Amino acid sequence: MICGIGIDLVENGRLEKIIEKWGVKFLKRVFSAGEILYCGKHVQSSIHYGARFAAKESFLKALGIGLGGGVKLSDIEVVNDKSGKPALQLYRTAKTQIEKRKIKNIHLSLTHTKKYATAVVVLEKE
Ligand SMILES: CC(C)(COP(=O)(O)OP(=O)(O)OC[C@H]1O[C@@H](n2cnc3c(N)ncnc32)[C@H](O)[C@@H]1OP(=O)(O)O)[C@@H](O)C(=O)NCCC(=O)NCCS
Repeated sequence: MICGIGIDLVENGRLEKIIEKWGVKFLKRVFSAGEILYCGKHVQSSIHYGARFAAKESFLKALGIGLGGGVKLSDIEVVNDKSGKPALQLYRTAKTQIEKRKIKNIHLSLTHTKKYATAVVVLEKE
């Protein structure tokens, strides 16, 4: 049974400016080491950071909570399998939320252009 859906759109240029201003301090507060490695490998890394930021916000929307709702963005990680397909890996504050709600499956899809990045998250319970 689907029990939550979330969508978000990020302007990559805005995120790029924040990264330029705050640097590693911002990146480490929001993204995992794996995400930083993945995004850093691409020529325009802000596109991929944008998609991951959108994924984190989409997850919060799917839960029905927003930023400041007790889940740390760094506890939500986007991982890609060998084919490139993305998935969410959850830790600590984020894991607690899905356990509490008995969520069994999380679906994630990402898309991006130079300017924008979008994510959709669907939550499923039995
Ligand atoms: C998936 C695919 C159609 C995306 O096409 P696109 O229009 O160029 O790119 P979009 O901007 O819409 O989407 C990019 C996102 O698609 C996602 N994606 C990549 N491969 C995917 C796959 N196999 N399944 C689902 N999503 C995928 C990623 O999240 C990627 O963003 P990220 O690199 O920041 O994580 C294209 O990358 C593709 O055909 N890949 C081949 C997948 C495959 O089967 N590879 C076999 C290798 S073993």
